[in-house]
Amino acid sequence: MSKIPLSKCFINAEVEEAALRAIRSGQYILGRESQEFEKELAAHTGVAQCVLGSSWTMIVYLLHQLQGVGPGDEIIVPSHTAFPTMEPLIHLGARPVFADIDDTYGMDLAHAESLITPRTVGIIGVHLYGHPLDNDRLVALARKHRLWVIEDCAQAQGAKYKNRMVGSMGDFGAFSFFPSKNLTVLGDGGCITTNLTDYADRLRMLRNHGRQGKYDHEFPGYNVRFNEINAAIGRVMLRHLDEFNERRRQIAARYSEGLKNVVQTPPVREWATPVYHMYVVRAEKRDELQAFLKQKNIETGVHYPKPNHLQPGVVGCFPFIPKLPKTEQAVKEILSLPIHGEMTLEAADTVTASIREFYGKK
Ligand SMILES: Cc1ncc(COP(=O)(O)O)c(C=O)c1O
Repeated sequence: MSKIPLSKCFINAEVEEAALRAIRSGQYILGRESQEFEKELAAHTGVAQCVLGSSWTMIVYLLHQLQGVGPGDEIIVPSHTAFPTMEPLIHLGARPVFADIDDTYGMDLAHAESLITPRTVGIIGVHLYGHPLDNDRLVALARKHRLWVIEDCAQAQGAKYKNRMVGSMGDFGAFSFFPSKNLTVLGDGGCITTNLTDYADRLRMLRNHGRQGKYDHEFPGYNVRFNEINAAIGRVMLRHLDEFNERRRQIAARYSEGLKNVVQTPPVREWATPVYHMYVVRAEKRDELQAFLKQKNIETGVHYPKPNHLQPGVVGCFPFIPKLPKTEQAVKEILSLPIHGEMTLEAADTVTASIREFYGKK
């Protein structure tokens, strides 16, 4: 049986043409393709501004710097997320304060609120696996305590909360274009979306050596720029994003139907239009199931096997390691099944049948 991959990048003649167009343009960095990509991303998200950067991690690092994040600051983040969510703030001397999850694997907002202290400056909500958090509640919580909000949309491009795009409701949205993401540029890349134009203007300068004009440097900056080939590819991908997300929802519906009462399928809140960056089930004998599927040439993943509050790079940094029982339980049971924007229903049925076989269910 041919391999069923966990995820897959879309590549067609249109994508190849776009790359060639950029190569032939003679302009390789922050040119017309990047400018148009920024406008198109802002329009798709429903915000005034989008600023591209070389990755989520680096553009968020620059954003934190503009926000004045520094030593003594505390920022509330879920532990159950990709490690990069809280890397930039650590580099600036701030401290991540870890919240537990709810049953959608998003941050438990009641727990998050209980962690706020006079040192808290901001909160990073992660729309994990492509399922949006309760954004109205997240933003209300932040306003009540005078905190900024970043929506980590790295896994949720195109997801909606009450019909509004993620990345348009917090002060800032942060996206990643890494190859496995719902929208990739076939390389590294990321962006910040916002309605705060002054931040966007300064971020554009900070990513490019603090420049205004070619040789006018208003302040020392960095090189966190974006490449034209990636921008040209991203523009094609963006045109297909909604259609691919719709396919992901069809695959998810098929899995949820076929796996009912076999494993715990992912819950969906009434406000959510998820985009299933991952389709994550909770399974008894998870590791045995994963090995069984591997034998059948079905690739799966565990996102993530070790929560961030227990990572060596964090435990060594901060004196107080919290107990997060829901997170610590979930990481033992979760399994990500294959899903991507071109997957067929037949492939989903093959995965489902194999899981049913493992549990002896006809
Ligand atoms: C939730 C989340 N946040 C942040 C990142 C970091 O993105 P990048 O690899 O573009 O820096 C990722 C990607 O792995 C992610 O999944």
